[in-house]
Amino acid sequence: MAAADHKLCCTLAFSALLCFGLVAIIQAQAQGKPVTDVCLGCICDAISGCNRTRYCGGGVCGLFRITWPYWADGGKLTLANESPQSEEAFANCVNDPYCAANTIQNYMIKFGQDCNNDGQVDCYDYAAIHKLGGYGCSGELNYQYQNTLQTCLNTFQQIDVRAQP
Ligand SMILES: *[C@@H]1O[C@H](CO)[C@@H](O)[C@H](O)[C@H]1NC(C)=O
Repeated sequence: MAAADHKLCCTLAFSALLCFGLVAIIQAQAQGKPVTDVCLGCICDAISGCNRTRYCGGGVCGLFRITWPYWADGGKLTLANESPQSEEAFANCVNDPYCAANTIQNYMIKFGQDCNNDGQVDCYDYAAIHKLGGYGCSGELNYQYQNTLQTCLNTFQQIDVRAQP
């Protein structure tokens, strides 16, 4: 696919995701970012309904419901100029869609694996790793998470330029 088409498709995917109320965590797919934009949007949808209201509760924070150890494994990214040692650094990062999305990318670079043994590492694996962690991703996912993810992927993956979830 030509670069221009590629860009157009990305733009269309972007708009569609926004139309469906998903958060604008879409970012140019770059080297070193294993998780597609559609996959990020669908994980966000499945885990929180992509609710961007600042949130921390039950050991998780933000629209991707990220734990402190997950954030730490994801490189302790912070918002501009904030020290990773700051009390608020974790909550501030994972409540920010971009900082949270980059945390996920880093986490998946470390822990990306074929959790369901289907011979590929794709969004189903990333979604399982996101929910269950890097060491338990072959475990059971709850119905609502799985169902929302699947519905979202069915809706968006055909407009994903990478043609895989
Ligand atoms: C979003 O999250 C906030 C805080 O947890 C909650 O009060 C609000 O009802 C949620 N909004 C939606 C649309 O679910």
